[in-house]
Amino acid sequence: MTTNAAPAPYATTVHQVARPTGMPTPADFAFVEHPVPVPEAGTALVENVYLSVDPYMREAMEEGEWELNAPLEGRAVGRVVASRDPRLAVGDLVFHRHGWRTHALVGGDEARVLPEPAGVPLRAWLSVLGGTGLTAYVGLTRIARLKPGETVFVNAAAGGVGSAVGRFARLMGAGRVLGSTGSAAKAEHLVRDLGFDAAFDHHDGDFAANLAAIAPDGVDVGFENVGGAQLEGLVGAMREGGRIAWCGAVAQYNDPGDPPAAPRNLYDLVHKAVRLEGFLVRHHRDAQAELEAFAVPHLREGRLVPDDTVTEGIGSVVDAFLGVLRGANTGKMIVRVGDPGEQCEAV
Ligand SMILES: NC(=O)c1ccc[n+]([C@@H]2O[C@H](COP(=O)([O-])OP(=O)(O)OC[C@H]3O[C@@H](n4cnc5c(N)ncnc54)[C@H](OP(=O)(O)O)[C@@H]3O)[C@@H](O)[C@H]2O)c1
Repeated sequence: MTTNAAPAPYATTVHQVARPTGMPTPADFAFVEHPVPVPEAGTALVENVYLSVDPYMREAMEEGEWELNAPLEGRAVGRVVASRDPRLAVGDLVFHRHGWRTHALVGGDEARVLPEPAGVPLRAWLSVLGGTGLTAYVGLTRIARLKPGETVFVNAAAGGVGSAVGRFARLMGAGRVLGSTGSAAKAEHLVRDLGFDAAFDHHDGDFAANLAAIAPDGVDVGFENVGGAQLEGLVGAMREGGRIAWCGAVAQYNDPGDPPAAPRNLYDLVHKAVRLEGFLVRHHRDAQAELEAFAVPHLREGRLVPDDTVTEGIGSVVDAFLGVLRGANTGKMIVRVGDPGEQCEAV
C-alpha cells in the first residue's frame, strides 16, 4: 500500500542491555526507536539539544544502579516544544536529567528554565556552568579553600572537571597551575591553550618524579580525579598545611571490585598536616548561584572559555561515553543531538 501521509516522527532512547566486566563495549547498549512521546498533564516535551556523558556513568552500569532495558539518565539541555505544564513554556531552554535520548517528557519540578543565553553558549550549562563546573568550583573553594598565590595541581587535567579547575584556579588568583594528562599532545594543549604553567603526560615515566620536576617547591592544593598511584604521587608532593580535594578515582571505575595497591603513603599526611577531603557535588547544589555569579561575567567578557569535545548525533552517544573512559576528550565531553540555534552557540 502507498500513502501520502507524513512519516510518524520518531524518537531515539538509549538503553543499557548488559552489565560489563571491565571496560564497557557498544554491545552493552541498544538504541531503541519509538514514536515521539506526547505530554500528559503536568509534563512538557523537550527536544534535547546537548547530552552530557560522564565517568560516573560507568559506576551506574553496575548492578543496583541503572536498570537494564530501560531509558538511561544523564544531564541534558533542550528546548520545550509542547507543554501541558504551566511552569514550562514552548521555546524555553531547559536543563534536566533525562539524557541519553532525543526527546524527553519532563515535569516543571524536574527542569530548570535557563536564563537568557546572551554571551553564554548553551552547552556551557553542561560544562563550566553545570555539574562539571560546580565540581571544580566547590572543590577549589569549599573543600581546598584555595588562597591567592598558592600552587595548584590537578590530574585528568585536560578533562571536563580538570580543565575547569585550571581555568577557575587561575581566575581565583592561584600562583602556579599545574596538571597531568594522558598524552603529550594534551599536556601541550594545557599549557598552550588553557593557561597551565606546566603539565606532563602521566604515561611518560614516573608520576612522582614528573610531579616533583614541575613542582619543586611542592603543591598547596591538590585536586584528585584519578586515584591509585597518582594519588600516592600527589600525597608525596604536598607541602605542609596543604589540602587535597578528592573528587574522583577514574583509574578504578572499570574494576570496581578490585581495590588499588596505592596510595601507600597516607601517613605522610599526618607529618605534613595535610587535609585530604572527599566530596560529592550533589551535596553542594546550593553553591550553583555562587558559581554562576563567579563564572558568567568571566564567560561574557571572554576570560573564561569553556573547553569541550562535541560529538554529533544521538548515534555517537555510546562512543562518546566510551571515549571519556579512554581519554578521547579534551574538556567536557558533550553530544549534540539537536539544533541549538545561532544565538545559543555564541560565546
Ligand atoms: N565528586 C564528585 O561529585 C564528582 C563530580 C563530577 C566528576 N567527578 C570525577 O571527576 C573526575 C573527572 O570527571 P570528568 O567528568 O571531568 O571526566 P573527564 O576528566 O572529562 O574524563 C575522564 C578523563 O579521565 C582520564 N582517564 C581515564 N582513564 C584513566 C586512567 N585509567 N588513569 C588516568 N586517567 C584516566 C582521561 O583523561 P587523560 O587522557 O588525561 O588520562 C579522561 O579524559 C572523575 O574521576 C569523575 O568521577 C566527581
